[in-house]
Amino acid sequence: MTSLVRHLHDFIRDAEPTFDEWLAGINFLTRTGHMSTDKRQEFILLSETLGVSMLVDAINHRNRDGATETTVLGPFYVEGAPEMPLGANVTGGLKGEPLFAEGIVSSPDGQPLLNAAVDVWQSDAAGFYDVQYADRTEAGLRGRLHTNSNGRFYFWSVMPTAYPIPSDGPVGDMLKATKRHPYRPAHLHFLIAAEGYETLITHLFVAGDQYLDSDAVFGVKRSLIRTYTREAAGAAPDGRKMTTPWWRLRNDFRLKRAEPPAIQGAR
Ligand code: BEZ
Ligand code: FE
Repeated sequence: MTSLVRHLHDFIRDAEPTFDEWLAGINFLTRTGHMSTDKRQEFILLSETLGVSMLVDAINHRNRDGATETTVLGPFYVEGAPEMPLGANVTGGLKGEPLFAEGIVSSPDGQPLLNAAVDVWQSDAAGFYDVQYADRTEAGLRGRLHTNSNGRFYFWSVMPTAYPIPSDGPVGDMLKATKRHPYRPAHLHFLIAAEGYETLITHLFVAGDQYLDSDAVFGVKRSLIRTYTREAAGAAPDGRKMTTPWWRLRNDFRLKRAEPPAIQGAR
């Protein structure tokens, strides 16, 4: 609290607001609260668009020790995604150009991790997540797979596209007032969990996307940008015969070992 008050007073001394400006700030925060429900968290969106969430991420993930880098979870993660077998099509009928994604989950020194839970979720070709379709209740473009004995996972999906974050509330007003666009560069989300390891929350961004340098939530890290390759019609890695061109993403993930729990009463 001492630090918060010191920095808040520094800000007020620096900005010297009029009473009207002070009230506009109070109204902005009030609207941010009113906009927040169990489905929409406008305060977290504010934290993300001010770069605070990624600063907290940077502070808490300083030493990756060879593990894959992390980024924001975002509002479109849904717990309890449908379990799917390896090779499944996760689209649930949502549309886009076919994508085959594959990789290995391992420890930081490259030991493959068997039965790691791999949650994936993403937007469709129109830039929407399943939960943004008002008339839809079933999962689409999300699922949970488990790695095999080689630590390998693979699934069929569609190419993700860049999309705007929700901008019909106070956060959208703030972006407009500061002349910022609301877009995120195209990405796939991953949440990967294995016993004895820290759960990894990350994205894989599409190289060449026009918003990589101006992500509305500052979530891009260079190490998370991948080349999604365009493949000609023909046999895919799982033997499927593709009659149209398709995209392929290959990426291995390394999980960080979990810290052993502190012993109660130890000094
Ligand atoms: C997302 O990538 O799903 C996301 C992250 C932060 C804010 C809005 C969307
Ligand atoms: Fe996203």
